[in-house]
Amino acid sequence: MVSPLIEIEHLVKQFGAVTAVNDVSLSIRQGESLGLVGESGSGKTTLARMVIRLIEPTSGKINYPGVSDIRRECQIVFQDPQTSLNPRIKVGEAIGEPLLIHALLPKSAIPLRVKELLDMVKLPAEYAGRYPHELSGGERQRIGIARALASRPKFLILDEPVSALDVSIQVDVLRLLRSLRDELKLTYLFIAHDLSVIGFICDRVAVMKQGELLELADKAELFAAPKMPYTRKLLASTLAF
Ligand SMILES: Nc1ncnc2c1ncn2[C@@H]1O[C@H](COP(=O)(O)OP(=O)(O)O)[C@@H](O)[C@H]1O
Ligand SMILES: [Mg+2]
Repeated sequence: MVSPLIEIEHLVKQFGAVTAVNDVSLSIRQGESLGLVGESGSGKTTLARMVIRLIEPTSGKINYPGVSDIRRECQIVFQDPQTSLNPRIKVGEAIGEPLLIHALLPKSAIPLRVKELLDMVKLPAEYAGRYPHELSGGERQRIGIARALASRPKFLILDEPVSALDVSIQVDVLRLLRSLRDELKLTYLFIAHDLSVIGFICDRVAVMKQGELLELADKAELFAAPKMPYTRKLLASTLAF
């Protein structure tokens, strides 16, 4: 049995009268890629934001047995790089920012690390001097990934990282994420609203609906024999990549 990196116990988040996450318990294993799937509004992002402590749960608990510094070791890549990157800040500065915030490197060492990070996401070093609008959607998402990797995290939440991209670009970014995971031995919580993307990258899959965790199983098991009617419905509308 692989030891858990993060354990979520009876997590609840209410926004006024809306219960966005309703009594979710699950654990994220060291080194796995856990898929989190569910229709829009099912509470996926809210769960993710609680896991990296961007928001506090209403009730329930999150334990981090495999993490010592949550802010540094747990990072998130958002769906829309257009809105997650400041349009007035050059790409190199955006990637280097977490290094400054966490004081991980002396200022003079940051440009070299930025170059290394750009190389990791397969972009040329001169992109450091560009602004986000000078990049394509896929390139901007690579910048989001480089920025998330800057602080050498062990855990990445990918919140619909390819949903805003053209289908032809999606596969490239997914391949990159898969090879980065293997190379850097990362643990992923990979959020998507459809199962084809999850099938490409994940080991286990959790299904959410209306704030609740409906089903959690190994990918092969879930794809072959889903227990819940809702999961069957999701599978029926899934395209194979
Ligand atoms: N900051 C917020 N304030 C009020 N309601 C929110 C907030 N964030 C999310 N919600 C609500 O919580 C529910 C779950 O949203 P979300 O976690 O974004 O779902 P998903 O990521 O699965 O699309 C939705 O009903 C959404 O409107
Ligand atoms: Mg979301």
